[in-house]
Amino acid sequence: MFGLGSQKKPSSHANAVVTGAGSGIGRAFALEIGRRGGAVLCSDIVLAAAEETAALVRQRGGQAWACHCDVSDLDQVEAMACRADEVLPAPVDLVINNAGVGVGGTPIGEVAIDDWHWTLGINLWGVIHGSHVFVPRLRKAGRGGIINVASTAGFSAAPLMGPYNVTKAGALALTETLAAELAGSGVAVTALCPTLVKTNINANGRIVGDSSRLFDRLMARFGMSAERVVNDALNALDRGDLYVMPQFDARMIWRAKRLVPRTYAMGTGLINRFGASRLN
Ligand SMILES: NC(=O)c1ccc[n+]([C@@H]2O[C@H](COP(=O)([O-])OP(=O)(O)OC[C@H]3O[C@@H](n4cnc5c(N)ncnc54)[C@H](O)[C@@H]3O)[C@@H](O)[C@H]2O)c1
Repeated sequence: MFGLGSQKKPSSHANAVVTGAGSGIGRAFALEIGRRGGAVLCSDIVLAAAEETAALVRQRGGQAWACHCDVSDLDQVEAMACRADEVLPAPVDLVINNAGVGVGGTPIGEVAIDDWHWTLGINLWGVIHGSHVFVPRLRKAGRGGIINVASTAGFSAAPLMGPYNVTKAGALALTETLAAELAGSGVAVTALCPTLVKTNINANGRIVGDSSRLFDRLMARFGMSAERVVNDALNALDRGDLYVMPQFDARMIWRAKRLVPRTYAMGTGLINRFGASRLN
């Protein structure tokens, strides 16, 4: 808990910025924040998609605006913050660092260096830029919240997902550090760590070969809806929870990794080598 006391819940009537709001989890965040009475600046590298999300929020009675922002570029994140100052009815008090891409299917040593740079630029530098720009504002205001969209990949260390795993572990470490630095400040911080969520991440990313086909099948079968994940995340932020793992398998992986790390690593390796081909 972060001493939220009697302050208003960070997710309700928020003045929010959501990155990667044009699709999937980001779009669901924008819609839910609007439903909770908030005003939201929807940003995305694809402006038309952000505009579509903003229009959906408005259709449902919320207040929303759209802007272009590539989160891998600090100048663009700063410009997004200026845009938020212009359009939102009050200073930003809720930041959702969500924009992200998937890379997978190739082992470390074979995955292209360009794929490392691309993933780190968006998934990790995006969260760093969002924190760098907005944390001073929130700290000064002494209230509000930040949700960093990490993933179970931040601790599951699944094979063939090296770049993605590294970015999400980094996002987790950043969030944990922020939680310590912002303790007692009135600003809540939450890391969202889902497993599979039904979104466009595979179509939009660089997950290749068998991994891409397997990902689609598993997502269709076991993926949770983005709406449910987002609802859990905003409620967790309101409670002052540092981590939110909406799915049972995420919580099991979290425990196994800590209780039997060596067995866990061997198990995931063997499942990958012998089991994935059967699931495919
Ligand atoms: N879908 C899952 O199973 C899953 C699981 C765990 C975590 N996540 C995380 O959820 C977040 C959202 O992904 P999603 O599943 O909704 O995928 P998605 O592809 O449906 O949405 C991602 C959005 O981010 C935008 N985007 C991509 N690059 C960007 C950039 N440089 N700057 C700004 N916006 C950019 C895309 O245009 C898209 O609108 C990501 O951080 C992802 O890693 C997803």
